[in-house]
Amino acid sequence: MINKFSLKNVVRLLVIVAGTAAGSHGQTVSVIPKPVSIEYLDGFFTITRSTRVIAENDAAAEASKLIDALAPAMGFRLQRAIASQRRDDAIKLELNGQLSQLSDEGYELDVSAEQVVIRARREGGLFHGIQTVLQLLPATVLSKARVENVTWNVPCVKIVDYPRFQWRGLLVDPARHFIPMEDLLRFIDTMALHKFNSLQIHLTDDQGWRIEIRKYPKLTETGALMDFTTMRQGDTEASRKRPGGYYTQEDVRRLVRYAAERYITIVPEIEMPAHTGGAIVSYPQIGLYPRKLSDLAPSQRWKANERVLAPRPETVAFMQDVLLEVMELFPGRYIHIGGDEANTGHWKKSEEMQALQQRLDLTDEAELHSWFIKQMDTFLTRHSRRLVGWDEILQGGLAPGATVMSWRGEQGGITAANAGHDVVMAPTSHTYFDYYQGPAEQEPRAIGGNLPLEKVYGFEPVPEAVAAEKTRHILGVQGQLWGEYISTAEHREYMAYPRAAALAEVGWSPKASKDYESFLARLSRHLDRLKVMGVNYRKPD
Ligand code: ACM
Repeated sequence: MINKFSLKNVVRLLVIVAGTAAGSHGQTVSVIPKPVSIEYLDGFFTITRSTRVIAENDAAAEASKLIDALAPAMGFRLQRAIASQRRDDAIKLELNGQLSQLSDEGYELDVSAEQVVIRARREGGLFHGIQTVLQLLPATVLSKARVENVTWNVPCVKIVDYPRFQWRGLLVDPARHFIPMEDLLRFIDTMALHKFNSLQIHLTDDQGWRIEIRKYPKLTETGALMDFTTMRQGDTEASRKRPGGYYTQEDVRRLVRYAAERYITIVPEIEMPAHTGGAIVSYPQIGLYPRKLSDLAPSQRWKANERVLAPRPETVAFMQDVLLEVMELFPGRYIHIGGDEANTGHWKKSEEMQALQQRLDLTDEAELHSWFIKQMDTFLTRHSRRLVGWDEILQGGLAPGATVMSWRGEQGGITAANAGHDVVMAPTSHTYFDYYQGPAEQEPRAIGGNLPLEKVYGFEPVPEAVAAEKTRHILGVQGQLWGEYISTAEHREYMAYPRAAALAEVGWSPKASKDYESFLARLSRHLDRLKVMGVNYRKPD
């Protein structure tokens, strides 16, 4: 005969194994991305004014962030206490380097009626544990205004959690439509709730140069104020005009700091050798036909030079000067140099470029492209950084230190990983959030394609064609919000969520626990959180 106690334990075990929401809090726990394991226990911990936060030494900064996060909705700031003063009615943050089963981003969370304990190896793990606590509380905890008549209950659970992948990213594109600082910061807040850890910012393109470079002031004096962005059918001269803009170096420092406080690394993308119209208009000598270009009015320069750099030694030096200032501003390991969609046909037509190719003993334009990227790779490697480029950098030979971002399907990622290079999977098929997410006639104008929520959720970042011993080279996933058709924060949020919530789970949760029905059930509650945060998400079908 099975007694009540052992039956309960059997049920608990099944819950852990299945990873599904069940037990006494089955309906109240809806964490996204889904934790590695959850054990549901009876009862609640209730946060009140008298609750204390206990955190020592390096955990103190995370305690402040927790107190800051809870204060607006609760209407009070939790007080700190030292461990010896208080056992119960406390939220404890503990750093413990011995928690060997957790990665640096992982955490353990124990909630009982008496206390909440978050343990982690590193501060970033504590931060992720706090994000989970926020998702265990009523959704209104995310309100920026005081919420009355709510009991701030955290259901009793035991969670062990850590990410599947180390690169869980999104990309935004202020080159096509400038994104004001405040919108970027808000975007980062929402990323943090989903445990994303990387934000790629596409800072330069044909439509604009968006970062102050002290050595080359015209990049922003001219390149940030281009007349128009991508031409759409039906656009008039007036409707094509967009406000320009750029980030000062002080803006960038603030942005990097803000993201770092949320354990998000900013990956700057400085495009080369194509998508460089903003730079060529500002400094025509780095393009192919300097004299012709300088005669053109700004609005006519847009197509001039067909926006591909001339990879002369002087151009290499110019772009390396730019990268030097970029490295000063962005402390992260990865610098993205674009590398995609270069129309090297212009080099083929240029006598000067053909002569350069011969002088460098290169056989074709693909090799010249590869030579140019290798100059950047060597330079970045010398400065202890890693080059990232779109998968076109495989053509003509991959630079030794390069990490490949696979966007034209998975093949580039497969080839690079099997050759021992690190890879971020970002294929159009599953991660281009500038694509339509429903019937085109019912959606705001998008660039094309069709990427519904379920397809994002179904993405498996490790292709079967990657050899077993090479799968560690798949660093993770990234979702792209290209900006040709996205000009406001509201539209960006609409394109991002809930698809980015699905991608967050692809990047974080174990492959074996993925279950679209479970995701949708949790998402319906998760959308309440996004609503409270004022995120303009698209309602799922
Ligand atoms: C890309 O979408 N051209 C990387």
